[in-house]
Amino acid sequence: MKQNILNNLIYQVFTKTIKKTNLPIVFNKTRLKQTGSFNNPYINHYDITKKNDINKSDSNKIEIFNDIVGYDDIKRLFLMAINSFEPIHIALAGPPASAKTIFMKCLLSLPHSYFVDGSNMSKPGLIDYIFNNKIKYLLIDEIDKIPPKDQTVFLNLMETGIVSETKYNKTRKMETKISIFATGNDLSKIIHPLRSRFLSLILKGYSYDEFHQIVTKLLSKKSINQKIIDEVVYAVWYNIKSKNIRDCLKIAQMAKSADDVLFLVEIYEKYNIKKRIN
Ligand SMILES: Nc1ncnc2c1ncn2[C@@H]1O[C@H](COP(=O)(O)OP(=O)(O)OP(=O)(O)O)[C@@H](O)[C@H]1O
Ligand SMILES: [Mg+2]
Repeated sequence: MKQNILNNLIYQVFTKTIKKTNLPIVFNKTRLKQTGSFNNPYINHYDITKKNDINKSDSNKIEIFNDIVGYDDIKRLFLMAINSFEPIHIALAGPPASAKTIFMKCLLSLPHSYFVDGSNMSKPGLIDYIFNNKIKYLLIDEIDKIPPKDQTVFLNLMETGIVSETKYNKTRKMETKISIFATGNDLSKIIHPLRSRFLSLILKGYSYDEFHQIVTKLLSKKSINQKIIDEVVYAVWYNIKSKNIRDCLKIAQMAKSADDVLFLVEIYEKYNIKKRIN
């Protein structure tokens, strides 16, 4: 009897203390125990404050694309990739002068970004740079110009984040979180496993209205008269039959009058310069 009263007392004291902690209580026939351990510190795997901070700072980043006219959907996509917790890899392909390189240049304003010219890349140089610097965004312009044997350097980096190198029988290895943003005229020139790791977007050529709008924005920054701009756009599109914005920029920078525009367009047509620069 005495033992029963004692047990009851112990039981009540225990349950009171445990209930205060709000942790689940598990009863079984012989033991009364509390799940959860006071020794394990609580780890917040999803820190909402930090997430909001990222969104706050990145919501302004649309400004990094101010030099690019249009492509609002692609700008938004890049911002989503930048805000992603895991690396996202995006490749832009498309015709000459469709703003691929300017996208890379704009992204270069992000902290921890690094620009690589694919036609001139040294694989050991790139690996060294990755080992010695904190890179978050690797921007590769003209990735299709990298020889296929060197393209393999990106495979593990993109899939697992691991970069490794074996030199003089010594291996070094590190884990990274790098997003690769790349461009190319022809993504079929990159090895298939690499291509499949990218979200690839094929840019279409511009319509006349888009072409006119872009050239107007670029040339009015250089204080070129709207009449000259209209003449240049019309002549490049219809006479030279070029859709390359670079042709407009070249002609407009030399022409002081509508007459000059006609003269330059005739030179283009006569010597067929267009075919060489497109
Ligand atoms: N949407 C655009 N907004 C602003 N400028 C543009 C746009 N599209 C083209 N341009 C202008 O056209 C020129 C060429 O652009 P860019 O170098 O980005 O082309 P690209 O797609 O990389 O071409 P390529 O395949 O020849 O390398 C630049 O002067 C750029 O300012
Ligand atoms: Mg380019």
